[in-house]
Amino acid sequence: MTEWRLRFLNLSHAPSSTAHILFPIILLRLLLSIHVGPTEMSSPTSAGVLQTHQLMENHSILIRDEIYGEELVHEPVLVELLQSPEVQRLQGICQHGVTGFLGLTPRVTRLEHSVGAFILVRRVGATIEEQVAALLHDISHTTLSHVIDHALSKPGEGSYHEVHKTRYLETTRLPNILARHGINQNVFDEELFPLVEMLSPQLCADRLDYALRDAVSFGKLAMEDARRVVGSLKAFPSATATRRLLVLDNPHVALILSRAYITTDKDVWSSPAHIDMYQRTGQVIGELVEAGSVDDKVLWQVSDAEFWTLLRQAANPEQLRAIERLEEEGIPEDNGLRLPHCAKIRTLDPDVWQGGEKQSAPLSIVLPTWGSERQQYILSRSQH
Ligand SMILES: *[C@@H]1O[C@H](CO)[C@@H](O)[C@H](O)[C@H]1NC(C)=O
Repeated sequence: MTEWRLRFLNLSHAPSSTAHILFPIILLRLLLSIHVGPTEMSSPTSAGVLQTHQLMENHSILIRDEIYGEELVHEPVLVELLQSPEVQRLQGICQHGVTGFLGLTPRVTRLEHSVGAFILVRRVGATIEEQVAALLHDISHTTLSHVIDHALSKPGEGSYHEVHKTRYLETTRLPNILARHGINQNVFDEELFPLVEMLSPQLCADRLDYALRDAVSFGKLAMEDARRVVGSLKAFPSATATRRLLVLDNPHVALILSRAYITTDKDVWSSPAHIDMYQRTGQVIGELVEAGSVDDKVLWQVSDAEFWTLLRQAANPEQLRAIERLEEEGIPEDNGLRLPHCAKIRTLDPDVWQGGEKQSAPLSIVLPTWGSERQQYILSRSQH
């Protein structure tokens, strides 16, 4: 309804020459709105490349994800978190930092990824705590995502957003929201939730969602194969067992996923060309934060687009030239660029559980050829 009021207000300011064009359009939309289902309160908003959210009249939220399909969320704590400024902030943050922001790669967002990880654990029957842990696992991410690691992380340190998580959380109302709904604060420690986080190369919701979302968006995995992976997903031995694990019940599907993961790693996550852009952006940001021209608190307060404007304003002529090179030249040729020592080589060895078996086993055991394929990839990358 608010939208309607706004439209009529706009009309009163419109020059009379356009009013006669606008009026029939408004009338048409008014008539159309009568046919909109009574429980649809607002139109869907984009959460990123593959996902929309829609607030319904009964205060539930309908999530539509191209990979996962529809998920209706009605639990008050989840509805409140999904609408909180802290979670919504992640819509303005590109999963792939500078390359995503500049439109050189698909504009996958931290919001759709966080909600995707949440949907995955929800689908296998995780507790509400584990669902919240999945939704909030990236909540302390800064603008431009991992680009900031290249700007501000000290050697040997974890990701910047993880190191500064507690400091960030203290500035938010999230602890208060959780307390009001009786949710334990330990959900901020996602490592306590094995369906959400597991050491590489095992499967977990965080790793699986970014794998599917990136592999599909970058054209490394067919949508129907991504959906088969989701259809093959289970929590083993159960979603509430202490030693619970995300597994796939089909080795063939697990192999398709694991191969797509390696291809995406080679061409995207550990691509020397992408890392080169991260480093050059990181250098400018590092210099500006060091010099006090950009306050590091801002990293949690602005979107990628707002931050880029700030950088341009604060940059000296040399830094501005570096920024303009990034904008104009785009992703450099991979040839000749070396893989930096800090680069993480990512592979997957998901656990497979075929109904009836007592134990799950890594794909490399079920299918030993995968074990050697995976080793070969690691070797080829470390010789790069
Ligand atoms: C809220 O509305 C949706 C969409 O019409 C419906 O599917 C859902 O069951 C409703 N939820 C509740 C809790 O009434």
